Amino acid sequence: MKYKITVETGTLRGAGTDASISIKLTGKNGEKETSEFSLDKFFHNDFERGDTDTYNVSGDDVGDIVMITLKNSGFGFKSDWYIAKVIVEKETEFGNKRFEFPCYRWVVRDLVVFEGKALLPNSKDSCKAIAEQRKKEVNENREVFKWGTDPRYIKDLPGFMEAKDPQSLPKDVQFTDEATLSLFRVGLIDFQNLGLSHIYDIWDSWDSLEDFRQVITPVIPGGLPHAAEYWRDDVWFGSQFLNGSNPEVIRKCQKVPDNFPLKNEMVDKLLDRGYNLDKATKDGLIYLVDYKILEGVATMGKPDDKRYITPAMGLLYLRNNDDMVPIAIQLGQQPGPDTPIWTPQQDTEWDWIMAKLWLRCADTQYHQMITHLLRCHLMMEPTAVASWRNLSSVHPVWKLLYSHTKGIMAINTLGRNALIPEGGAADQVLSIGGGGHVALMQKYYRSVTFDSYDLDKDLTERGVKDLRKFHYKNDALLLWDAIKKFVAEIIDIYYKNDRDVQKDNEIQDWIRDLHDNGYKFGSNGVDKKVPQSLKKPEELIHFLTMVIFTCSCQHAAVNFSQLATYGFHPNSPTLMRQPPPTKRGEVDLSFIMSTLANKHQAGEMVTIVHGLTTIYPSEKFLGDYADNLFGDALAHAAMARFRAALDDITEKINKRNEGMVAPYTWLLPSNVPNSIAI
Ligand SMILES: [Fe+2]
Repeated sequence: MKYKITVETGTLRGAGTDASISIKLTGKNGEKETSEFSLDKFFHNDFERGDTDTYNVSGDDVGDIVMITLKNSGFGFKSDWYIAKVIVEKETEFGNKRFEFPCYRWVVRDLVVFEGKALLPNSKDSCKAIAEQRKKEVNENREVFKWGTDPRYIKDLPGFMEAKDPQSLPKDVQFTDEATLSLFRVGLIDFQNLGLSHIYDIWDSWDSLEDFRQVITPVIPGGLPHAAEYWRDDVWFGSQFLNGSNPEVIRKCQKVPDNFPLKNEMVDKLLDRGYNLDKATKDGLIYLVDYKILEGVATMGKPDDKRYITPAMGLLYLRNNDDMVPIAIQLGQQPGPDTPIWTPQQDTEWDWIMAKLWLRCADTQYHQMITHLLRCHLMMEPTAVASWRNLSSVHPVWKLLYSHTKGIMAINTLGRNALIPEGGAADQVLSIGGGGHVALMQKYYRSVTFDSYDLDKDLTERGVKDLRKFHYKNDALLLWDAIKKFVAEIIDIYYKNDRDVQKDNEIQDWIRDLHDNGYKFGSNGVDKKVPQSLKKPEELIHFLTMVIFTCSCQHAAVNFSQLATYGFHPNSPTLMRQPPPTKRGEVDLSFIMSTLANKHQAGEMVTIVHGLTTIYPSEKFLGDYADNLFGDALAHAAMARFRAALDDITEKINKRNEGMVAPYTWLLPSNVPNSIAI
């Protein structure tokens, strides 16, 4: 039998190899295998990055080909080979028959690649050879992808990948060379390259609030954020809780909390349409941001570097024109003579500015440690680990999650090594550095449940679904619906009924592993509401929608907006160097300047968020399944419909953004990477 073998080497940096490559074909008929064919052409440099090479070989007829085994001799410098796909064609009496093997993985030594059509373990299209190989693959992967045991992160936090450092991860989940180079450049573009070296060793306060503009130098993309222009404005301030980096806290206030004893007469002149506080609350026009979770969380406490936070609360009012404005702020959970309620009606401009800075500082701590690091990065990692541990690469859910979980183990391993421990980013720029940052995540994890990832449910429960100028919410809901529909279409191709889900031992092992090891109950025993088994396709669709939405859209909204939010320090202070004011009329400019970040700290924060908002050159964005592992026409059609839905969303967002002072662009599909990787 003559076989024509076409091999497409991937386009990633380092994809090509000079090593010797051989291939073996496994057929369905009688589980036969060919002998090993060496893929080598005389006087030809095979397997160069981006090249397609064709080989003609002869061997036994093994029937329809269901698997190929690629072998890399490992010869030469940087011998690892990144392969996009292999096509095998065989001549039959009825013409050529073609079998496609999408791969998009590294061949370090041996790699078995299944034919592209995704298969459930019990599929009638499967065969003994496939069944045996998928078991073997899962068993081997379980030896490589192990749940982490680092004692610093084991308690009251989600499961994670065992790895000493990002370089020791399996090659397929390491940073690509493109990402490493990008991170390296970001590392180099520090104070010096951002033109900030003049403040590197200056631990003095700035002289005026506007001086913080100096930290945004011309080399920073996007220039001065809009916040630098508008941060004092109450309408802008209110919008930060909706369309800033942390849209997860604001909720409708059904009743002003007892520990926030705001009186009508303290805010009556701030409300339009003749409203007073009671009536506005009753009519659903009052909203609350409450940072009670910060109560008792330790802050940086070195003798020469003391920082502070307050478990602040803020009430906001929804004006007739749908603007959200702050009307009262209390810098603590216990009201009293030293914890006054600040309002723009009663207080001086300096007092009111100071109260607002403290409320934003509380929001910053929450955003960085809970919204971004815990809820996106750390909480999504178990899904990636469990997929490699339990699902064979021919499984449709493995294929679906491949694009959306790429990069998360690498960036999180880097985070656990370099950003979270002592001396990391939190220690440098957050009030709660020095250990409080981890304690805050643990505190939140103890009570979090996975249903909080259901966007629709969360927005409904918070009573914010109808807010017209909540652009994050408007865009996120469109994307949520599109992702849900797409996931349902993919799942429906493979699971025809409940029994198909119940009989799928790989998916049952996967969810059980997530329940037992990925999302362990915290030390207070709260069930994370991740099921122990899956009974219906709808449950799987729901879980996958939450994961894919969070890995792509939610992370994009809360990560890539950071330069806009934190680029101008007074818009959202990351740390406070003095305790909060306790009496009215004490605050003046010098008090504020001695409280906010000093020159070094403000520069440090900009370099960090500049790094975190950098997009790798190899990044793929939502809807782009160029590394398409599905060999099924139905799956391709679902992807095409998903892309068309995303195009419609793009048009809607662009139209809405027209004429806006600060367009909300973080959820434009072209700005949403598929996976968390930075
Ligand atoms: Fe991130």
